[in-house]
Amino acid sequence: MKDRPIYRKVEQWEIYDRMAGSSIYADTDKKFLPSERYDWTLLTEIELFINAVKGCKKVLDIGCGIGHPSLNIAEDVGSIIGIDKSERMIEIAKNRLRKSGANNIVFEVGDAESLKFSDKSFDAIILCGSLATFSDKKKSLQEIKRVLKKKGKVACIEANWQYQLTHERRFHEGNFRFTEKGLIRYRYVRRLLHPHKEIDYRCIIDQKSVLGKKLLSDRHFLKHKTLKTEMSIEEVEPHCTEIEYDEQEKLDPETITRLFAENGFKDIVVSGYGVMYDLLNSAGLVNKMAPYMKELSKAEAGISRFLHPLKTEMLFLTCKV
Ligand SMILES: C[S@@+](CC[C@H](N)C(=O)[O-])C[C@H]1O[C@@H](n2cnc3c(N)ncnc32)[C@H](O)[C@@H]1O
Repeated sequence: MKDRPIYRKVEQWEIYDRMAGSSIYADTDKKFLPSERYDWTLLTEIELFINAVKGCKKVLDIGCGIGHPSLNIAEDVGSIIGIDKSERMIEIAKNRLRKSGANNIVFEVGDAESLKFSDKSFDAIILCGSLATFSDKKKSLQEIKRVLKKKGKVACIEANWQYQLTHERRFHEGNFRFTEKGLIRYRYVRRLLHPHKEIDYRCIIDQKSVLGKKLLSDRHFLKHKTLKTEMSIEEVEPHCTEIEYDEQEKLDPETITRLFAENGFKDIVVSGYGVMYDLLNSAGLVNKMAPYMKELSKAEAGISRFLHPLKTEMLFLTCKV
C-alpha cells in the first residue's frame, strides 16, 4: 500500500465512458431521448439544432454520446456522423440507431482533437454540451474549422458551469470489501456536477491500522459496509491510489464567444442565454414546446433550475467559418 496519493489527471471522455449506460446515458429508445427526466430540456436542444442545421447535407455531431441529438435531427438533414471518444457511449448510440431504423446516421469512435475526416467535408457541425469536455479546445476548434466547408456552420449548446458551481449537488456512493489478507478494500466515487467532476478514491486499508480499527468498531460499517460521513473520507484520502479531477471552467457568453473568435470563426451569434426557457423563447419555440413542457411557466422554469442538475444557465451559439 502506498503512503502518498498518486494523482492522475483523467480526461473528461474517460469519465463519460464510465457514465455510459447509467443515469441520463442509459440505453433507452423512448423518443430516442436519454431519459424521461430530461425530456423537455433535451427536446428544446433538438429544436434549436434543427432550426440551425435544417437542410444541411452533411452534418458532424462531435461528442455525440449515446446519440443525442443526432438521432433526433437526422430526418431534417441529409446525413449525419456522430463521433465520440468513448467506446461505450458509441456502443449504446449504435444500439439505439439499430432500434430507430434511421439509415442516414453513422456512429463511430473519434477524437475531436484529431478528426479523421478530410478538409472541407461537412456543411455543419453540432456540439451538444461537448465543447466543455474537450481537453484541448483550441485544437478541437482548429479541427472543426478544417473539416467545415466554406460558409459551413457550427451550432453549439453549452452550459455555464461556473453558475452550476454555486448550486452544486453531490452524490456519494462507496463500498468496502474484506479481503482474506486482513485488509479492507474500499472504493468511493464522489460526483460533482460542476461539470462532470468525479473523484475516485480507491484504497486498501489495513484492518489493524487506526482507520481500519475505527471502521471495524463502527456497527453501521460492519452491517452496511458504507461510509456515512465526509469526515471519514478525509481520513481515507491520504491512502488514495487514484484521484481524478478537472479544472473549473468559465463558459459564459463572453468567454465562449472569445474562444470561437480567437480560433477564426465568424458571424458568432449567442442567443438565448439563461435557463432553457430563455433559449426556447429566443428561438420562438415556446408554443411548439408547450405540450412537452406541460405549460411550464417561466417562474416555474426559473425555480426549477435550483432543483434540477441541468437547470444551469445555458447558451446556444452559432457561427461560421
Ligand atoms: C456532456 S456529453 C454530451 C453527449 C451528447 N452530445 C448529449 O448531448 O447527450 C460530452 C461527450 O463528449 C465526449 N468527448 C469528450 N472529449 C471528447 C473528444 N476529445 N472527442 C470526442 N468526444 C469527446 C464525451 O465522451 C461525452 O460523451
